[in-house]
Amino acid sequence: MIDPKILTIDGPSGVGKGTLAKNLADELGWTVLDSGSLYRMVGYLSLKHNTKDFFKIRKKINLEEIYFEFNDQNSNISLFLEEEDLSNFIRNEEVAKLASEFAVLPEVRDYLFKIQRGFRHKGKGLIADGRDMGTVVFPEAKYKFFLTASSEERARRRENQLKESGLSVNMRNLQERIMERDNKDSSREISPLVPAEDAIVIDSSNLGIYELKSKVIEIIRS
Ligand code: C5P
Repeated sequence: MIDPKILTIDGPSGVGKGTLAKNLADELGWTVLDSGSLYRMVGYLSLKHNTKDFFKIRKKINLEEIYFEFNDQNSNISLFLEEEDLSNFIRNEEVAKLASEFAVLPEVRDYLFKIQRGFRHKGKGLIADGRDMGTVVFPEAKYKFFLTASSEERARRRENQLKESGLSVNMRNLQERIMERDNKDSSREISPLVPAEDAIVIDSSNLGIYELKSKVIEIIRS
């Protein structure tokens, strides 16, 4: 059954999914699920506990104690695990690379699938962003968007995000790592990064956040 209270935004890194999700949530008063940060959490715990064994990592995750919080000051969405704000540890390319390595494993995807489904019907509605939100996790969503943008623009946006978090960036290196991660995400066997058949594809290369948000609002209200 189609669910009019779920909106999904999928696409590769740096297309503006997270910014769009936050802005739409503000406008609609809906909740946001930043699914990438759950995969990043697994990558971060792998680094922290120096293990690639997901079953060991899973034991470090207390399901009752995962939550997202909206920070009014910088408009960021923070992921908390047992009251520890992970945001500053997960927003770097080292953790992102590990996240995409774990993201190919069926046991990881199954485990996170259940956590993600738990976000349905929390609050007025849900905006879920990631790689497989419209295809696998919330196929019943009424509104599905798939964002694209040129690789230069995506690297530039990611560079700004990292700089805002106080991290230093080598642009060429960053562009290569992003492309490597996108290729891995698009070519994996389970839940590859592809638009859902019923998704509306938007090229965001030349759109500012205000234009992008207006476009999406116009589509969902029409
Ligand atoms: O969106 P973000 O860059 O934070 O995601 C980090 C990585 O997590 C992605 O490159 C991808 O490998 C994985 N991921 C995924 N499915 C999602 C969200 C993220 O496989 N729904």
